[in-house]
Amino acid sequence: MPYKTPGKTNEYIRELIALSPNGEKFMELTAYADEHRVPILLPETVVFLKQILRLYKPKKILEIGTAIGYSGLVMLDETDAKLITIEIDEESAQKAKGEFEKWGYSNRAKIFVGDACEIIPLMQGEYDFIFVDGPKTRYIEFLPYLKKMLVNGGILFCDNVLFNGMVAGEQEVGKKKNSIVEKLDLFLKTLFADGDFSSSILPVGDGVSLSIKKKL
Ligand SMILES: C[S@@+](CC[C@H](N)C(=O)[O-])C[C@H]1O[C@@H](n2cnc3c(N)ncnc32)[C@H](O)[C@@H]1O
Repeated sequence: MPYKTPGKTNEYIRELIALSPNGEKFMELTAYADEHRVPILLPETVVFLKQILRLYKPKKILEIGTAIGYSGLVMLDETDAKLITIEIDEESAQKAKGEFEKWGYSNRAKIFVGDACEIIPLMQGEYDFIFVDGPKTRYIEFLPYLKKMLVNGGILFCDNVLFNGMVAGEQEVGKKKNSIVEKLDLFLKTLFADGDFSSSILPVGDGVSLSIKKKL
């Protein structure tokens, strides 16, 4: 996801988030992200994610796409869960590691540095919350593995699924983005057609899909 300069509404929501307890840790990291042009969760997505976490209270979270640890920090801060998070970029992963240490979350957070396309098929274990914010063309590939690792009743939360309005055809798709849009479209159609999931899609931020694995 390319970096996008935050708009006035984004800034305003960030200011509101900063007012919440522990808000300062997020301010520091969002400022770093802006300075270094790192794409991180949009503030409206953060607020929504936090509410879902408060309601659902997961115990074991898997994340694809750590970046500098911002979303990881949000999830660790909002829950008592253990977090496994995967990041391909070593420098970003190092920064995330430092952030988790700095805020006292190292005992609950583990970063796998590498390509999620290689790591995910090798993973085992059960997770009750899976947050996908990695390579957009690969969501469809990850889906069967994530479904297997998600416990019954667990939540699959995926970001950027509407990709700046392009997936729904609201925005014109440039040649370079075509493959991303096609793959996200296929991902969403596969997800919604899967009877083992109860899925919803929300135009929050860049588009969020929220699926609950049905209790079979
Ligand atoms: C949108 S950013 C994640 C932002 C982060 N979740 C946050 O809100 O703080 C996407 C991240 O996915 C990582 N990524 C891209 N392809 C990947 C892959 N194949 N395996 C693991 N990580 C990947 C990128 O390096 C980038 O840091």
